[in-house]
Amino acid sequence: MKAALISLGSKSSVMTYEAMQKYFESVDMIELKRIEVRLGKEAAILYDGKELGHYDCVYVKGSYKYANLLCSLASMLEGKVAYMPFFANAFTTVHNKLLTHLVLQQHKIPMPRTYITSTIAAAKDLLKRVNYPVVMKFPEGTQGKGVMFADSYSSASSLLDALGVLNQPFIIQEYVETGGSDIRALVVGDKVVAAMRRKAQTEEKRANIHAGGVGQSVQLSRELVKLAVTTARVLGADICGVDILESPLGPLVIEANISPGLQGLGKVSPVDLPDEIAKFLFFKTQEKVEERKKQGAVEVMKELDLDPEATQEIVSTLQFRGEKIILPEIANKIARFNETKEYIITAKKGRLEIQETR
Ligand SMILES: Nc1ncnc2c1ncn2[C@@H]1O[C@H](COP(=O)(O)OP(=O)(O)O)[C@@H](O)[C@H]1O
Ligand SMILES: [Mg+2]
Repeated sequence: MKAALISLGSKSSVMTYEAMQKYFESVDMIELKRIEVRLGKEAAILYDGKELGHYDCVYVKGSYKYANLLCSLASMLEGKVAYMPFFANAFTTVHNKLLTHLVLQQHKIPMPRTYITSTIAAAKDLLKRVNYPVVMKFPEGTQGKGVMFADSYSSASSLLDALGVLNQPFIIQEYVETGGSDIRALVVGDKVVAAMRRKAQTEEKRANIHAGGVGQSVQLSRELVKLAVTTARVLGADICGVDILESPLGPLVIEANISPGLQGLGKVSPVDLPDEIAKFLFFKTQEKVEERKKQGAVEVMKELDLDPEATQEIVSTLQFRGEKIILPEIANKIARFNETKEYIITAKKGRLEIQETR
C-alpha cells in the first residue's frame, strides 16, 4: 500500500513520516506549500505543477493559516484515496475555535460558557454582566497567542477597543479556574494514546508548552477518555489533540488540534507517538482497501446485473506477461479465486479450464 504525508515539514511530521515507512510499502513526504488545487474543468491536485500520484492513504497536516488549502486538498481526495484520517470540513471547523464550539454544542459536549456578539458595543454591554476574570480569544489563534485574560471591566473594555481597531473577530469566554492547568489528550482512532496535564508558569494563565507550560504524563479517567474520543469523532478527525479544562463541575473542552505537535507530549509520555499514528494509519487503510475490494466486486455484479451463482461468458482478448496469462479482472470478480486455495488447471489446445478443488 502506498501512503503520502502532506505537511509543512515540521519535526513531528518528519517523525511520523519515518514511522510510516516501517508499515507502508512506500511513503511520499509532500510539501504542503508546493501544492495547488485546481477546480472546475480538469480538476486536479498539482504538486510542483504536476498531477499528484495515486495513494491508498494520505495524511494531511498543516496550520490554521492553510485551512482553505487543507480543506480543498482533502475534499479533492475524499473518495479517491482509500483512507484519510479527516473529513475535509474538519480542516475549517477545527482551525476555528468558534466553529469548533458550534459543532461541540450540537453534540452537547461540555465547554466553558462562550459568547458571540454583534458589535464591540454589544460586547461591552455583555461584559457588564459577566464574572471576572474573563477570557477573550481569536477564533484562529494557536499556541496560546490569541488568548487574552481581563481581570476587570476596564481592562476587558480596553482590550475590546484594540480588537475593534484591528478589525479582529473574537469570542468571549468564562474563565475556568484550574490553577493554570489543562489536559492535552492525543486521540488516535477510538483511543487516547497519550495525555498530559500542562501547568502554566507562575504569573501566566496559559498552560500551552509554547507559553512556557510544563507537561506531566497523566492516565485519564474513563470519563475524560470518552469526552476526548467523542470530541474528535464529532469533529470528523481520527487523529486529534483535544484540550480540556478540569473545572470543579466537570471537564470542559476548549479546543481541538488536527495537526498536534508530538514533541512536547512525546517527551513526557512513554508511548512512541509517531509509531502509534503510523500503525493506526496502516491498519485503517488496510481495512478500507479490503472494504473497497468487496464493495467493488458487489457493485460490478450489480452493474452487470449478474447472478452471483450463474455461469457467465466473457468475450475478451488475453493479456500476456511473458509466457503467463493475465485474466480480465471481471473473470475473477465472478469466479472469486484467491491465493490461499488450490486449483486444477486443465489445458488442451484452444481450451483452458480452472476449477477450484473441493
Ligand atoms: N476559558 C478558559 N479558562 C481558563 N483558562 C483558559 C480558558 N481558555 C483557555 N485557557 C488557557 O489558555 C490556554 C490556551 O487556550 P486555547 O483555547 O487552548 O488556545 P490555543 O489554541 O492558543 O492553545 C489553555 O491551554 C488554558 O491554559
Ligand atoms: Mg490549546
